[in-house]
Amino acid sequence: MSIAHGIRTLGVLGGGQMGTGIALVSALHAKVPVLLHDRSKEQVVKGLLLVDKLLAKDVGKGRLTELEAKEARARISVVDSMEGLRDVDMVVEAVSESLVLKRQIFTTFSQILRPDAILASNTSSISITKIAAAVVPAGESAAGEVGKKAASRVVGLHFFNPVPVMKLVELIPAIQTSDDTLNRAHAFASACGKEVTTSKDVPGFVANALLMPYINEAITWLERGVATRDDIDKTMKLGMAHPMGPLQLADFIGLDTCLAIQQTLYEGTSDSKYRPSVLLERMVDAGWLGKKNGKGFYEY
Ligand code: 3HC
Repeated sequence: MSIAHGIRTLGVLGGGQMGTGIALVSALHAKVPVLLHDRSKEQVVKGLLLVDKLLAKDVGKGRLTELEAKEARARISVVDSMEGLRDVDMVVEAVSESLVLKRQIFTTFSQILRPDAILASNTSSISITKIAAAVVPAGESAAGEVGKKAASRVVGLHFFNPVPVMKLVELIPAIQTSDDTLNRAHAFASACGKEVTTSKDVPGFVANALLMPYINEAITWLERGVATRDDIDKTMKLGMAHPMGPLQLADFIGLDTCLAIQQTLYEGTSDSKYRPSVLLERMVDAGWLGKKNGKGFYEY
C-alpha cells in the first residue's frame, strides 16, 4: 500500500546546489509548488539559472515537453524571508553543515510554521535527534506530550549531489520522529523519483560514514606522496569504475563540507579513523573550497 505524502506546498531553505536541486526534483517529479528561500538573493538567482538550464537540456533531449518544463519552473517561487515559508506542509533545510545554525533554523521553523508541518533536514552528518530537540517550545519539557509531539515531526532527508542525477535519498529518523512523519517523508522522496534507504541517526549515517574515510584516506595518500593526484583519481575511476576519483569528488562535494562532515564523524565517535587529514584542514584554512570557488585539488 502506498502512503500519501500529503504535501501540497513544500518549502526549501537554502538556495545552494542542494537546495535548488531539491526544489527542482520536487517541482518536476512530485509536482508540488515550492517556495525557496535563501538569505543571499545572488545565490537564489544563480540556482534558478541552473534550474532553467537543466530544464532546457531535458527539453532539448526530448525528455520533457516545453509545456512540462514551463509548468515545473512555474511551480518554483522565491520568498524573501523565512516567514514566507509559514504555510508550507513540509520544509527541507539545506544550509551549511553547522549544528548551531541548524538548531537556530529549526527553532525558528517551530515558531513560524504550522504545528503539523514536517521539518526535514538535508544534513549530511549532523544528528537529527539534536536538531529535533531544538523545536521543543520554550518552557515545555522535551519528555512531555507537547515537547514529544513537536519533535516528532523532524526527520533527516539526505539528498545527494547533483540532486537531479543521483537516485538516492537517505531517510534518517531521530529517536523522536513519529512513524507518520517518517512514512510521509519517505513517500515524498519517492514522489521526487528517488530510491530511499533508511539509516539510524549515527554520525554520517550510512553514506558519509563510508564515503568520508575513503576521501580522507585519498587525501592522506596525496599528502604522504604515495601517488600523484591524477594517479590516485585514475586508480579509483578506471580500477573501480567510479564516475569520479576521490580527490575530484571531494572538490565536487566542497572541501569545507567534507571537513565539516569529518569533524562531525570524529567528534561523534572519537574514532581516529575519522580524523580529518591536515592537508584538508589547511586547504580549507586557505579558502580553497573545491569546485564551488574555483580551487581545490584541481583548478576550475
Ligand atoms: N546538476 C544537475 N545535473 C548535472 C550536474 C549538476 N550539477 N552535473 C552534471 N549533471 C548531469 C548532466 O547534465 C548530464 O545529464 P544528461 O545525462 O541528462 O545529459 C549528466 O549529469 C552527466 O553529466 P556529464 O556528461 O556532463 O558528466 P559526467 O558523465 O562526468 O557526470 C556526474 C557528471 C553525474 C557528476 C558524475 O561525474 C558523477 O556521478 N559523479 C559522482 C557524484 C557523486 O558521487 N555524488 C555524491 C556525492 S556525496 C553527497 O552528495 C553526499 C553529501 O552529503 C556529501
